[in-house]
Amino acid sequence: MMHAALSIWILSAVICVGRGHHHLGHGTDNDQPDQDTALDGAPSSLSRVTSANQEFAYRLYRRLAALPDSRDKNIFFSPASVSVALAALSVGARGETHRQLFSGLGFNNTLLTQTDVDQAFQMLHGRANEDTSKGTAVFMDNRFKPRHEFLDTLKQSYFAEGFSVDFTKTQESVNAINTYVGEKTNGKIDKLVSDLDPSTVMYLISYIYFKGKWETPFNPELTKQDMFMVDESTKVPVQMMNKEKRFDTYYDQAVNTSVLHMPFNSSYSMLLLLPDDMAQLESVICPGHVTKWLKWMKSRTYNLYVPKFSIKTSYSLSNVLSEMGMTDMFGDRADLSGIAEGQKLAVSEVVHQATLDVDEAGATAAAATGIGITLLSFRHVPVLKFNRPFMVIITERGTEKMLFMGKIINPNI
Ligand SMILES: *[C@@H]1O[C@H](CO)[C@@H](O)[C@H](O)[C@H]1NC(C)=O
Ligand SMILES: *[C@@H]1O[C@H](CO)[C@@H](O)[C@H](O)[C@H]1NC(C)=O
Ligand SMILES: *[C@@H]1O[C@H](CO)[C@@H](O)[C@H](O)[C@H]1NC(C)=O
Repeated sequence: MMHAALSIWILSAVICVGRGHHHLGHGTDNDQPDQDTALDGAPSSLSRVTSANQEFAYRLYRRLAALPDSRDKNIFFSPASVSVALAALSVGARGETHRQLFSGLGFNNTLLTQTDVDQAFQMLHGRANEDTSKGTAVFMDNRFKPRHEFLDTLKQSYFAEGFSVDFTKTQESVNAINTYVGEKTNGKIDKLVSDLDPSTVMYLISYIYFKGKWETPFNPELTKQDMFMVDESTKVPVQMMNKEKRFDTYYDQAVNTSVLHMPFNSSYSMLLLLPDDMAQLESVICPGHVTKWLKWMKSRTYNLYVPKFSIKTSYSLSNVLSEMGMTDMFGDRADLSGIAEGQKLAVSEVVHQATLDVDEAGATAAAATGIGITLLSFRHVPVLKFNRPFMVIITERGTEKMLFMGKIINPNI
């Protein structure tokens, strides 16, 4: 009884608050244990960055779900890959451009410095192994001279690999970047970049690859064709996997959603959420929900059906990020002077691609983010001002007949 009462209380305590705040209502215990908390009880930089990254994931999700052509489309992306790429970019941003990146990522600049963020990402990077890999890379034009401090921070905190290319050879550079990302994602993302602005001087990449085997796999012999209800009037055939077993689940009455926990191993899991009303769940879901679900899951036997599928997504994030307040980096107002001295740089594009394959044995997910950085002086608009004596001719274009001709020395007389 005690337990039930407590769980209802927790249920009402999940409220989504703005970025930079604790993500559960006051009074609830934090699932992130004390190791992340400094002695005085204030959250450490690491836990501030971690919770900002979580909030960012949901904000970005809602933006992607609100895109004009997204109504009937799958959404799949790696918040971790996007955050790392933008945090690495913010190392080289200054002034208002930096402020916008920081606040867009959910970092409160009265509580966190860029160095705190860099160190947090360094700690979050973890170790790579054969089944999961993540990292960043910088492709630089061989005539471009970035600041040493910028590259040092990228190498040290973001584990960036550096490559020199000739960006005037656009196709070769595109191939170099795509080959690199293809290798890092085991061929899952092999065409991140389709073309490059010829004034590109730097291209920043972050990639992530994950391959996990279900703790208990599905039996392929039980996989049967079945129908998937896209909406009330559309059904599509799918290969439906089946398994009867004990699973950890939770039914969240506040959002009318069934939650299924499918573990890969002790460190990685997939959560599958089946809402009554997708739009409702999408509009409210926040980090507090996942915390609550993982905490209050109950094990019971289910006859489970999950489709086998492979999806691929591709996004241009420039507009989405602008709408999230990160506007200046894209235009004349960009201040990326931390990347290189004395050159006017701006971000030309932010692209993101992701894949997800789910089958009887497990799941494979991959994603990559690319940020193109161009030299703005190429786009400099020259000024032509007639503020001293000039000549004037009026001619008939076809015959070049000189209808009038003159010289203006003083327009006032
Ligand atoms: C940033 O933190 C300060 C100090 O805790 C707080 O007063 C301020 O409201 C926070 N800003 C945002 C945008 O959350
Ligand atoms: C869990 O699985 C992931 C993905 O396959 C792997 O990278 C990781 O090392 C595994 N962790 C443990 C504790 O087995
Ligand atoms: C959940 O479903 C019940 C029963 O269908 C409905 O009355 C209730 O309004 C739903 N709750 C939400 C938050 O949509």
